[in-house]
Amino acid sequence: MSSSFFFRAILGFVLMLSAAAQTVAPASTSIPTQIPGQNAILMGAAWYPEQWPEARWEEDLRLMEASGLKVVRVAEFAWSRMEPSEGHYDFDWLERAINLAGKHHIVSVLGTPTATPPAWLTQKYPDTLRVEHDGQRVTHGNRAHASASSPRYRELCRGIAEKMAERFGHNPNVVGWQIDNEYGYALMSYDEGTRQQFQDWLQAKYKTLDNLNAHWTTAYWSQTYDNWREIPIPVGGHNPGLMLEWKRFVTYIWTGYQQNQIDAIRKYADARQFITGNLMGFFDGFDHYPITEALTFASWDDYVGTGHVDPAYNGLAHDLTRGFKRQNFWVMETQPGAVNWSSLNNFLNRGEARAMAWQAVGHGADDVNYWQWRSALNGQEEIHGVLVGPDGTPVPFLDEVSQTAHEFAKVEESFRGTTPVSQVALLYSYDSHWAIQFQKHTEKYDDIAVLKSYYRALRQIAQSVDVVSAYAPLAGYKLVAAPSLNVLPKDLADHLLDYVRNGGHLVLGTRSGMKDEFNALLPQRQPGFLVDALGARVEQYYALEKNVPVSGAWGSGEASVWAEQLKSQAPADEVLLQYGKSNGWLDGQPAVITRAYGKGRITYVGALLDDKLMSAAAAWMTEKSGVTPVFGPVPEGVEVSRRLGEGKQVYILINYSAEAQRVTLPHAMNLALEGKRGDGVELAPYGVAVAVDK
Ligand code: GLA
Repeated sequence: MSSSFFFRAILGFVLMLSAAAQTVAPASTSIPTQIPGQNAILMGAAWYPEQWPEARWEEDLRLMEASGLKVVRVAEFAWSRMEPSEGHYDFDWLERAINLAGKHHIVSVLGTPTATPPAWLTQKYPDTLRVEHDGQRVTHGNRAHASASSPRYRELCRGIAEKMAERFGHNPNVVGWQIDNEYGYALMSYDEGTRQQFQDWLQAKYKTLDNLNAHWTTAYWSQTYDNWREIPIPVGGHNPGLMLEWKRFVTYIWTGYQQNQIDAIRKYADARQFITGNLMGFFDGFDHYPITEALTFASWDDYVGTGHVDPAYNGLAHDLTRGFKRQNFWVMETQPGAVNWSSLNNFLNRGEARAMAWQAVGHGADDVNYWQWRSALNGQEEIHGVLVGPDGTPVPFLDEVSQTAHEFAKVEESFRGTTPVSQVALLYSYDSHWAIQFQKHTEKYDDIAVLKSYYRALRQIAQSVDVVSAYAPLAGYKLVAAPSLNVLPKDLADHLLDYVRNGGHLVLGTRSGMKDEFNALLPQRQPGFLVDALGARVEQYYALEKNVPVSGAWGSGEASVWAEQLKSQAPADEVLLQYGKSNGWLDGQPAVITRAYGKGRITYVGALLDDKLMSAAAAWMTEKSGVTPVFGPVPEGVEVSRRLGEGKQVYILINYSAEAQRVTLPHAMNLALEGKRGDGVELAPYGVAVAVDK
């Protein structure tokens, strides 16, 4: 049976169960990513007026307006132009640029310029420069060279942010703010002051050294600390408890660094101006859930680099970003054809960027901005992709951007007040991700790839999946899967059990429930505090040298990379998959166990399954949990997304396959791009359709 036939069969079955997809509309039609007075979905570019003579600006903006661009992000690297010498500010040029953009119906997002402090600043205050872990201070002239933990640097950041907010906080053309740029990639300074802050932070958390020593088992290798000042910043491999706390401290530093600027802006800015930060998908420098808490909404920079868009991975990264605050988001930057920083900076195929822009919208983006409008004639990114060449005239790619921007404008109203709504959630945890990274056990275990294998299989059936923090409210989901929830302390176990007791279906994947919040082993063995509810535990885990056969209720196939030998301890347990002949230990042992618990169900999947088995697993999980697809069958290679609003459902269909595809709609809908009604669409390769059902 081919896998596409398999999917269609499953999908058909699920559809039969429920022809009408769920229609729980979002509570409110006003969402912070949609700016009052502006189109519901927008397109824009990063623009650097400070790099060009003022006489040129008008032409830039005229071209942008003609291309349908409605947003510029400005100033995020312009500190030396805004404060040319200490305490002397020059915002007149920026105000003229912003107001001129306004005349062209283009709104501005102001970036605080703290990723690039000026030379006078780092020269006068060398302590603002980061110290690398080899003790070297970084030199001026790149970016992200300042120390986020330096009190003096924070004071200087606050200064420039306040002055900007004083000047632009009421400017009607400024719709919002971006803090810093990509948060200095979360790079830290390893100076003495930072080390002391880390030690103080540990003291505030653990209160006594006895407590810390106990949780980190410092009796091991004579690590016992008698004085807070003895505790090092971990460099390279170290005590897993210390390493996890360092990551949390890094999160604390960047959250505080961000809050310092948010406070400065909020002091002056109109409440209508949003504050966001441009994150980077699965970048793991800090925990994104606390970082995004203080933001109006999350944004991210969506780059492909080498190769071409992988719709499943890119969709997953969008859904991760949407899950940070469980609401729509912006794509603050995306690739204008090619980048300059990858191993091979190939160009996206014609039509691919348009497909990507629509995919972003399908997954909940309300704005897509290209980085950048025009390349600076010199500087580190001279040969990055752009929309306008060094001569100031459009590159061929601008046509595609312009087409997409005009499409956004044409159908924007359909998207007002809409957002993706899912019945399935995947849980993501930075603690678990880091704990696995620190002790991979096999270099082949990639928890993001594991997440993606669940995502691909579940999304193919449900056609909408949320990715949320393990601590997020779960009551609204029919199915919750936690593919690698390694760190699973008691409070989190209680939260998950609550969900299951009330009727939810929780699926735990490999390596789940092994550690407590201190990254110490749970003596219950996996899945720790959930062993009793599952009625089973992991007897032994194995990093695999070669694939292991598995078979059972989901069919037969192979497990790779990781296999856990489960043991049932309760009669009500059901074994769904068993290992075949392998290393002797695994032979004939349970690989997947499920058990009804409370009003719900808990399932443990102890192996990484091949794609076909994963699809069968997803079919079983969704069927068992009553999950229904949001649209219905689509040909292989076509992605469907749905945004839900009051009284309307908007579907975005994108063909990523190399052949033209025909999609039959469940019933006649408005085909918004074509401006007609129909019950089917023809999609060329990279073709897009927007179907509005109301
Ligand atoms: C990042 C940065 C931008 C630019 C682009 C280039 O996303 O935020 O300033 O350097 O990469 O791809």
